[in-house]
Amino acid sequence: MLKIAHRGAKAYEPENTLQAFQKALDLNSDGIELDVHLSSDGHLIVIHDETIDRTTNGKGLVSSFSLAELKSFLIDEKYQIPTLNEVFNLVDKKCLINIELKGLGTAPKVVALIEKYISEKNWKYEHFIISSFEWNMLEETSNLNPKIPIGVLTEENINTALAFAEKIKAKAINPDFNLLNEENVHQMQEKGFLVLPWTVNSEQDIQKVKSYQVNGIISDNPDKI
Ligand code: G3P
Ligand code: CA
Repeated sequence: MLKIAHRGAKAYEPENTLQAFQKALDLNSDGIELDVHLSSDGHLIVIHDETIDRTTNGKGLVSSFSLAELKSFLIDEKYQIPTLNEVFNLVDKKCLINIELKGLGTAPKVVALIEKYISEKNWKYEHFIISSFEWNMLEETSNLNPKIPIGVLTEENINTALAFAEKIKAKAINPDFNLLNEENVHQMQEKGFLVLPWTVNSEQDIQKVKSYQVNGIISDNPDKI
């Protein structure tokens, strides 16, 4: 059962910061989950929303700022917004990285960065899962490099996700945990997919999805898993 820290260990440190990812490592997480957008000058930025309004002291679209400008804004008055490159360097193969593609144009840049770390720094494809609710970006990823493991995100329908996962030969299906029951978890696993539900935080919900024998759990508090 993989313990995957949602946006880093979000229950303990501000989401999608190097500090949250370090906390996830300190808690012996098997993986971290994070979200990516592009800056105006084409850098991969780790942030959940398409604007910086909720999580920093600035305002505006992530895609309207250069990397240097984004670095001038602060999260909780002290932390900077990280790049994906910085997170890779922090994690340094110590756990799995589930990269959720949020912003337009992120797929080819993420594929290129993964390929660079595999060819130059001895990382393995198994260190990564690319997921997205925007399935066209998953198809794009798979077309660019079919070896990259893909997790099909869904908050609506397991059967549709299952059909798409088969089509693009995904590795995992990442469903909203509320969609799960023992039968559909078994059905996905029988077809060869890992089942990695999100965002499972309460002890009661963690116990429930564990009883379905999922392959991993994405949680703000991975230590509770
Ligand atoms: O990857 C699972 C989960 O992170 C999807 O929802 O809104 O937290 O990105 P959200
Ligand atoms: Ca996410």
